[in-house]
Amino acid sequence: MNSTSIPLVAALALVPLIAACAAFMPEREFDGAQMFAQNCAACHGADGTGSRAMGIAMEPPATDLTRIATRNGGTFPWNSVMSTIDGFGQGGHNGAMPAFGDGDLGEPVLIENNGVSTPVPAGLLAVANYVYGLQK
Ligand code: HEC
Repeated sequence: MNSTSIPLVAALALVPLIAACAAFMPEREFDGAQMFAQNCAACHGADGTGSRAMGIAMEPPATDLTRIATRNGGTFPWNSVMSTIDGFGQGGHNGAMPAFGDGDLGEPVLIENNGVSTPVPAGLLAVANYVYGLQK
């Protein structure tokens, strides 16, 4: 055995160990505020009031996210908000907003919706919950 083969053998021995660790890794925490600042604020503004409030010309304008519930008769439309962020089923959507579901939004968690458990990626839930908290 020459000297270069020793590290290789050692590295191969570690593979199952690394795989085992990954399987037992705790679920990642998603910080909705941080996700918003990093992924959404550029278009929707740091406070969520939208591109018009920032004086940015964008067509269509990035919506004022603080008034989604107001525009929807006082109810926060969780499903449409999450599908807009995720990019799922956006018929008529002109692609102005990126589909974040194509990125890594983490493991699904189960949420109760009218007695039905629906799996939602943890990161999507975190950022949608942050947007919910912005409602005026
Ligand atoms: C590149 C610019 C851009 C980025 C980045 C962006 N958006 Fe948007 N967003 C838009 C535009 C433009 C619209 C409105 C038109 C449309 O639907 O395409 C919109 C619409 C929305 C809506 C629908 C609002 C309503 O009243 O129905 C939600 C919710 C939303 N964005 C949330 C987010 C969140 C959360 C993020 C970050 C994860 C984000 N957006 C990132 C441009 C952007």
